[in-house]
Amino acid sequence: MQTDLIKWFDNHQRFLPWRRTKDPYAIWLSEIILQQTRIDQGLEYWEIFLKKFPTVKSLSKAKESEILALWSGLGYYSRARNIYQAAQIIVSKFQSEFPKTSSELLKLPGIGPYTAAAISSICFGEVSPALDGNAFRVYSRLFAISSPIEKKSTIKEISALALPLLSKKRPGDSNQAIMDIGSTICKPKKPNCPACPFEENCISRRSGNQHNFPVKLKSIRIKEVDKFYVFLRKNDTYGFTLRPKTGIWGGLWTPLELNFEDWELAKKSRNIQKGNIIYQKHLLTHRKMNLYFSDWTGEIYPKNEEIQWFSNQDLKRLAFPAPILKILNEKSYI
Ligand code: ADE
Repeated sequence: MQTDLIKWFDNHQRFLPWRRTKDPYAIWLSEIILQQTRIDQGLEYWEIFLKKFPTVKSLSKAKESEILALWSGLGYYSRARNIYQAAQIIVSKFQSEFPKTSSELLKLPGIGPYTAAAISSICFGEVSPALDGNAFRVYSRLFAISSPIEKKSTIKEISALALPLLSKKRPGDSNQAIMDIGSTICKPKKPNCPACPFEENCISRRSGNQHNFPVKLKSIRIKEVDKFYVFLRKNDTYGFTLRPKTGIWGGLWTPLELNFEDWELAKKSRNIQKGNIIYQKHLLTHRKMNLYFSDWTGEIYPKNEEIQWFSNQDLKRLAFPAPILKILNEKSYI
């Protein structure tokens, strides 16, 4: 099976630009970008990043705000902050040389077991299985793993079973073959089993049971989102914006919402200290919202046409989402 996998990779692998290099910096960037981003979108960002910052040293010398700006559109900004921090560590503690083992890589911010194994196997020939969601699906079907994949013991079991499938000479290619099989053949719905190099050895396929894997714990996935708002105050009036009719809080009034980058920039330029930011947790059935609020006084630039100004008296007539209402009460605005 180990040989079948490598043969399949040589004939069917996707041609992705980061497969033409073994530079750990370039591979690391690709893996971080691809953690939560589709390949077609991630590709563009990977190229832009490498062009602007061709080495880990150049990345470490950038400003964090520059990296966040380049990252904009990709979402999950903690990835950008982590690559910035990891670059500082690699330059200062490792003389700009990437650590070569997954156990060392794991110590860097933003690098978990999957990413550590991907980098160490692709760049340094370490034989360790890179297990992301796709790989878990492939292996759990191949071995018909009946315990839920969220459990630590299941992860260990899959890891042990996957290990002998990796080529000792080309572990990175074995891992990337599994990634390709996971995204092009062993898809969550309608897996294309006849195209799979493991078709004959796949235990779940033998009983026509492949759709039932991976087994998952029954749980609602709670999505976590961060939102950033500013309470605007000008003389004795307060600025609010009306949410569009559809979507969350449709038709309700909220303080001015900022995206993460503008929020970060404003915190710096207005010198807003941590102690002056109000945090409010808001739980919905499928979502956990982290709401952050700060206070601004005076005009804001550029002028925002959507902001409308109200007196305390006027505010009483407006509809606000519950967590915002709570804060307005606490602030004695209404
Ligand atoms: N997803 C994450 N890393 C990848 C890689 N190296 N090849 C293909 N898909 C990936």
